[in-house]
Amino acid sequence: MKDLVFDLINQEKTRQREGLELIPSENYVSAPVLEAMGSILTNKYSEGYPSFEGVPDWDETKIAKEVLPNYRYYGGQINVDRIERLAIDRACRLFGADHANVQPHSGANANEAVYYAWLSPGDKVLAMNLGHGGHLTHGSPVTRSAHIYKFVAYGTDADGDIDYEELEKLALSEDVRLILVGYSAFMKIPDFKRVVSIREKAEKKWGHEILLMADMAHVAGLIAAGVHPNPLEFGFNVMTTTTHKTLRGPRGGLIMTMGKVGSPLKKTPEKTLENIPILVDKAVFPGTQGGPLEHVIAAKAVAFGEALKPEFKAYAKKIVENAKVLAEELKKGGFVLQGDGTENHLILADMMKSFGIDGKMYEKALDMVGLTLNANALPGDTGGAFRPNGVRLGTPAITTRGLGVFEMKILANWMIKVAKICAKAKSTDGLDKYKDDLDKIHAEVRELALKFPVPSL
Ligand SMILES: Cc1ncc(COP(=O)(O)O)c(C=O)c1O
Repeated sequence: MKDLVFDLINQEKTRQREGLELIPSENYVSAPVLEAMGSILTNKYSEGYPSFEGVPDWDETKIAKEVLPNYRYYGGQINVDRIERLAIDRACRLFGADHANVQPHSGANANEAVYYAWLSPGDKVLAMNLGHGGHLTHGSPVTRSAHIYKFVAYGTDADGDIDYEELEKLALSEDVRLILVGYSAFMKIPDFKRVVSIREKAEKKWGHEILLMADMAHVAGLIAAGVHPNPLEFGFNVMTTTTHKTLRGPRGGLIMTMGKVGSPLKKTPEKTLENIPILVDKAVFPGTQGGPLEHVIAAKAVAFGEALKPEFKAYAKKIVENAKVLAEELKKGGFVLQGDGTENHLILADMMKSFGIDGKMYEKALDMVGLTLNANALPGDTGGAFRPNGVRLGTPAITTRGLGVFEMKILANWMIKVAKICAKAKSTDGLDKYKDDLDKIHAEVRELALKFPVPSL
């Protein structure tokens, strides 16, 4: 008998097919990405790295044929070396980086490796406040990093933009070693140039190098497509990302670095910004991880190959266009949006200000009609982490399915209707009284969703 797990996978397939995914950090991968990830590469151990020497830049056919020297601890690496090398080269090409480490198992691992590469215990890091849109790994007290390093937080201003004045004040009053720009719930385009100039002032004041790190987990796909500025072009030293959000690859992490590339398995080089590529490689393996997931790395390589194609540029443009239209339509229906709209793929709505309901209730009600988003704290949220007043949504996944501006208007209309039902119901239990109305919307959502198939399903 087939394992029960496969029953559940089939049920999840139905859920994905019949509903619409609005969580801004999710996406639908292509069939080739899925195929690479489910491949026999999962059988292989390959601790270490492929060689960074003697490989012709960007000549993929040559890479796929050449027997590459390597820095691995196991035999049988001939194919894995070539695959990982392709992933590295494609990532460098996508983001204009000097080097890429494709081994982090997740975005959290990627961030932790960068901290470990550059910081010593007790060093200070300046990063975005979690309650203002930062990520847990940017210094939340519940994380391991926060026990090792000291995080100082900057926030957003009344317009929802980064409070650059506060950032500068803190960079000049706290002896920071790392400044981090990155976020999970932020809808503006950061002023990377301004952060670079703040770093220069802080370096002069403190008399040592300061690492500039961008965690672009959410917008990496937009950067790859050129519809969002690239922090590496402004002088940032490191860019981390997840590979599964707008970048539309398998679940995983990635670190792009600028500087001198060399073997990470030789003597540890001096901690200088120039040596960051080597320091980061060492920090990923053996510093914080063991054997790389080569099946996932292969899927990353396939996804990077897709992102290098012109179609991906068009896709990324559409993500932003859809998000802007959706935001405007929601506003017309009474939604109060953080920052009054969006400049990227992501929208944050204040459900308490808009309809007098909390984000968790709205998330539950939308689940009942086949629309998935997540409750999310807003700056100064009085609802706490488990019952925040905000919700976060975005367009990467629905844009992959082919929904466009026309469908954004339909979607906004459903969302407005559900919000009004919630306002009348007052509590999640009270939604029972409106079951017929919700069922009707659910049937409409299902009908539209089935017209836009999930790739690979
Ligand atoms: C900005 C940012 N960094 C890091 C992460 C962590 O990624 P992962 O969940 O793959 O560990 C996320 C995930 O949502 C994120 O939004």
